[in-house]
Amino acid sequence: MPEEKPITPAESGTDIDRRSFFVKLGLGSLSIAAAGTAAFSYQFLSPNVLYEPSPIVNAGKPENYPVDSVTLDVNSGIYLVHAKEGFFSLSAICTHLGCMTAWKPELGIIACPCHGSKFYVLDPKKVPGTKIEGPAPRPLPWLQTSLSDEGDLMVDRSKQIDPMKFLRV
Ligand code: FES
Repeated sequence: MPEEKPITPAESGTDIDRRSFFVKLGLGSLSIAAAGTAAFSYQFLSPNVLYEPSPIVNAGKPENYPVDSVTLDVNSGIYLVHAKEGFFSLSAICTHLGCMTAWKPELGIIACPCHGSKFYVLDPKKVPGTKIEGPAPRPLPWLQTSLSDEGDLMVDRSKQIDPMKFLRV
């Protein structure tokens, strides 16, 4: 009976032996671990900053707003109002629970669709933004409104101002 010899890797047609297989496996594991560490380090070292849009809104040229007009910019959440006394801006965000309010030209008021708060806007005897009725705890805030060097109306949503400070153009 012929003696059986073990088959070597060279004889089996593969160049890889047991030792080099484990060396490659170890190197592969180390590479994956190094890549993971690098990814976590990059994430840790990157500034954790939330980029928000600018609070300043360019509302365009004053001539686009006729006298006694109330213009709602839904995207920026502001009203640009051209009253007889001048321009001013109000936040369109209800002071109750933060719903977007709506201009009701047929009533001449701003109304909140969520819980029914109502606010004056063009009544000459009332301060614009003052609450008429509803659960809103505060009036709609006046926002700083100015004219840029290019003659555009600029509204800064981050700056509230005292009421009745009109911008005369
Ligand atoms: S959110 Fe406007 S009345 Fe409640």
